[in-house]
Amino acid sequence: MDQETFSAVDEFIGATLVAHDEDLQAALDAAAAAGLPSIQVSPPQGKLLQLLARLLGARTVLEFGTLGGYSSILLARALPADGRLVTLEANPEYAEVARGSIERAGLGDVVEIRVGPALDALPVLDGEGAGPFDLVFIDADKVNTPNYFAWALDHTRPGGLIIADNVVRDGSLAEADSEDEATRAQRRLHETLAGEPRIAATTIQTVGSKGYDGFTIALVQSA
Ligand code: SAH
Ligand code: DHB
Ligand code: MG
Repeated sequence: MDQETFSAVDEFIGATLVAHDEDLQAALDAAAAAGLPSIQVSPPQGKLLQLLARLLGARTVLEFGTLGGYSSILLARALPADGRLVTLEANPEYAEVARGSIERAGLGDVVEIRVGPALDALPVLDGEGAGPFDLVFIDADKVNTPNYFAWALDHTRPGGLIIADNVVRDGSLAEADSEDEATRAQRRLHETLAGEPRIAATTIQTVGSKGYDGFTIALVQSA
């Protein structure tokens, strides 16, 4: 098996099970035109996020890492008309591209982009009494995933989900002596989750158009 096969299968899944969506295509085109890196979730992964949000009956979502708004649009589409999605993005140029695409998709009233490092946004959200959220999607700077997770745990309702992308990292998750800070952070996340009674979690390895990676899904339960 090789990357070509993984991508071909993702393309087949995308062509069959993931309906073509002009607003999502426009978001990808706008991101590419503006030179944003093409690191958004793949169409099948995005569909999974959307299915999980629907399964939860989610009304409120918090996202770390907006990029061009691709996953934001998918998640926001799973919410009722009065739902809210807050998405945190450090790069103001990316946020501007995302804003245009989110508005084009008719989701300007559902999605709020907050520009700046996510760690700075969290005390502000706290001050506003934000949450509890139904779903938190962590997909920003990977070294901070455990920090975002810790905050999310205190701001997600019981029965809600916290999902973290890019935790497997080409398999480096298994390397106890990894010197890569992002990998060490994912290992620390797993070790913390193991001792956290408020969480039932698993990590699923993935292959596809984005290579070999994986995500953690954590159900928040009453301790
Ligand atoms: N969720 C998006 C992809 C996000 S890529 C999607 O699937 O469509 C990761 C994003 O996190 C990038 O846009 C990057 O600029 C942003 N980011 C990096 N460091 C950050 C930080 N400290 N705070 C907020 N966003 C950050
Ligand atoms: C990167 C970020 C992501 O969220 C992702 O899914 C893949 C790659 C990156 O920063 O390189
Ligand atoms: Mg990601």
